[in-house]
Amino acid sequence: MILALNHKSHFTKEEILKYVEDYKKFDSKGHTMIVCPSSCYLPYFEDIVLGCQDVSSYPFGSYTGSVSAEAMYSLGARFSIIHHSEREKCFKESLSESKKKLEQAIKAGLIPILCVGDTKEEHDQGKTLESIKEQLSFFLEGQSYDSLLIAYEPIYAIGTGDVPENKEIEKVLSMIKEHYSYPVLYGGSVNEENVLLLKQIKGLDGFLLGGISLDLKALQTLCDRL
Ligand code: PGA
Repeated sequence: MILALNHKSHFTKEEILKYVEDYKKFDSKGHTMIVCPSSCYLPYFEDIVLGCQDVSSYPFGSYTGSVSAEAMYSLGARFSIIHHSEREKCFKESLSESKKKLEQAIKAGLIPILCVGDTKEEHDQGKTLESIKEQLSFFLEGQSYDSLLIAYEPIYAIGTGDVPENKEIEKVLSMIKEHYSYPVLYGGSVNEENVLLLKQIKGLDGFLLGGISLDLKALQTLCDRL
C-alpha cells in the first residue's frame, strides 16, 4: 500500500531532527512511504521518498513568499499534495488556483497527490459522488498524466474522527476507478485502531495520514496492522 504522511505545519527544527533519526528505525513492512514534512525541513531527510504539501501556482520569479514546484523538486520532493481542503478552508484557495498548482507540479516533475473531498452537507444530501466527480473533471478532464495519485478525503473526516462507513468510501472509489486509472488513497482520521476496518475497503491503494504521521510509535502499529 501507499502511505503518504502529511505533517502539516508541525514540528520545530529540534523535533524534526529527532523525527528524522527515529524514522531511520521505522519498519515500513514493504509499504511505499511518502513523507511530506514542512518544505523547510525537506533537506533534513535523506534516502527516503519525499513529498511537499503545497507548491506555488507560479514558476520561478518575483512571487514573494511562494516556493516554486521546481524549488521543491530541487530540495528532494518527488510528490506534492495538491488541493488539500485546508488550503481552501484556511487560505481561501480557489479551484483554479489549485489547478495552476497541479500544472506547476507536473511541469517540475512532481507527482501530484490530488485531494478531493465532499462536505458534511453534500454527504448528508447524498451529493458525494456528484461533488467528487465534478472536482475530478475540473482538474483532469482532457488530461492524461503519466503519474498521479488521487486522495479521497471527506472534508468532515479530517482531524475529527468522523470516518464514513467502508461501503460509502467504496462507492466513491469505484466511481473514481470507473473514470480514471490512477491509484486512490483514503484520508481523514485514519489511525492505528480504525485501520483494521479501513484496510478492508475494496480497491483501495493506500492512505493519506495526517495526525498519526506525527507519532512514529502509533504509525508503526498502523503499518504492522496493514
Ligand atoms: P488526519 O488528516 O489524518 O489528521 O485526519 C488527514 C489529512 O488532512 O490529510
